[in-house]
Amino acid sequence: MKMRRTAFVVEAGAIVCTCSKGKQMNSHVSVPGGIAAVTADIDVVRLENVKRHFGTTPALDGVSLSVRKGEILGIIGRSGAGKSTLIRCLNGLERPDSGSILVEGRQITGLDERELQPLRRRIGMIFQHFNLLSAKTVEENVALPLKIEGRPRTERLKRARELLELVGLSDKAKAYPSSLSGGQKQRVGIARALAARPALLLSDEATSALDPETTRSILALLKDINEKLGLTILLITHEMEVVRTIADRVAVIDAGRIVEQGPVWSVFADPKAEITKSLLAGIRPQLPAHIAKTLSAEPAGDAVLGVDLAGAAAQGTLLAELPGAFRLLHGGVDHVQNQAVARLYLAVPVAGAQTVIQFLEARTARIEVLGYVASNA
Ligand SMILES: Nc1ncnc2c1ncn2[C@@H]1O[C@H](COP(=O)(O)OP(=O)(O)OP(=O)(O)O)[C@@H](O)[C@H]1O
Ligand SMILES: [Mg+2]
Repeated sequence: MKMRRTAFVVEAGAIVCTCSKGKQMNSHVSVPGGIAAVTADIDVVRLENVKRHFGTTPALDGVSLSVRKGEILGIIGRSGAGKSTLIRCLNGLERPDSGSILVEGRQITGLDERELQPLRRRIGMIFQHFNLLSAKTVEENVALPLKIEGRPRTERLKRARELLELVGLSDKAKAYPSSLSGGQKQRVGIARALAARPALLLSDEATSALDPETTRSILALLKDINEKLGLTILLITHEMEVVRTIADRVAVIDAGRIVEQGPVWSVFADPKAEITKSLLAGIRPQLPAHIAKTLSAEPAGDAVLGVDLAGAAAQGTLLAELPGAFRLLHGGVDHVQNQAVARLYLAVPVAGAQTVIQFLEARTARIEVLGYVASNA
C-alpha cells in the first residue's frame, strides 16, 4: 500500500493533523495521565451561568448544567444552538466570557494552556467525521494519544489491542482508515478516545454521518462502554432518536440557553418548551395533517385533546374508564428508559369535554386543547 506522509502537531491541546494532501482536520484526542481522582459525589462537569458571545450572537447565554459521574447526558438542539461551543468550552478550546466551569471539581476557566493539559487528558472526544490519520494504521491511530504522552511502544500496542477488541475491530489492527466503513472508522475513533482512560467522553454528532443501522450499532457500543467502564458520556446531537436510545438525561439547548432538562422519559412524556416539542415531532405521534387543517378555535362539535401520559397511566385501563363519549383520533405508546410514555389525540363532544379533562388530569395526564372539529371529522 502506498503510504502518504502525515505530520501532526499539538495545538491548544488538540491534535491538528495535516496530511500530505494539505487537508487539515481537527483531531482532538486525549492523552494519558490524570488530575485528582473523581469522588463519587462530585459531578464530572458542572457549568454555572456560562456565557460566550460572538459579537452580538449569544452562542452560550447563561448555561447551567451538570453531568453526573457514570451517566449519559444528551444535549440536543438545532443547528447554531450553541452545542459545539459548549463542548469547546469544556475542553478549554473556547474561553467563556463569564461563568464557572468545573471539571472533576476543578475550576478550569482561568487556566492557561499549560495548566489545561492535565484536564484534556481526562477528556476523550469523538467527532462526526471521525478525524483519523489516514497514513497511520488502525492500531497506530488508537495508540496515538499514548505516543504523544511518551508511553513505551509495548504498552501502546497492548492498550490499542485491548481497545480494538472492545470495539470489535481486532481483525483491522493493521488496516488503514481508507479501507474501513463509516461505522468501523467511528469504532476506531471511539477506541482512540478511550486510549488514555478518560473520565469523560465528549461526542459531537458522532453518528450524524452514519446510516440508521450503523448508528444503532455505534450507540449500542457507547452504551456498552458506559456500562462496562462506568464512563461518563456527554452526547451532543440534533436527533431525538439518539437521545432516546442511550441517554439517561437530556438537556435541550436553544439560542444558547438550556430551556428544559430532565430524565429522558420525563421530557418525552411532558415536553414543555416549543423547541422540545418540535425536536420530538419526528418520533412522537402527531395530529394527522388532514385533521389539523380543519381545527377551529370556535368551541363547537368535538374538542380535540392532546393527551400525554406516563408510567402506569399510559398502560392502564384509562380510556375504558373515561366518563363520556370520545373518539380516538390517533396516538401511540412508546417505551423510554423502561417507562411507558403515551401521546394520544382524542375528540370529545364539547358538552362533556370538561368532565373528561378533569378525569384525566386527576390521573396525572397532561392535556392540551388543540382546537375543535366537526363531530364527524
Ligand atoms: N468562532 C466563531 N465566531 C463567530 N461565531 C461563532 C463562532 N463559533 C460559533 N459561532 C456562532 O455561535 C452560534 C453557536 O454555534 P455552535 O457551533 O456552537 O452551534 P451548534 O449548536 O454546534 O450548531 P451545529 O448543530 O450546526 O453544529 C452560531 O450562531 C455560530 O454561528
Ligand atoms: Mg456543532
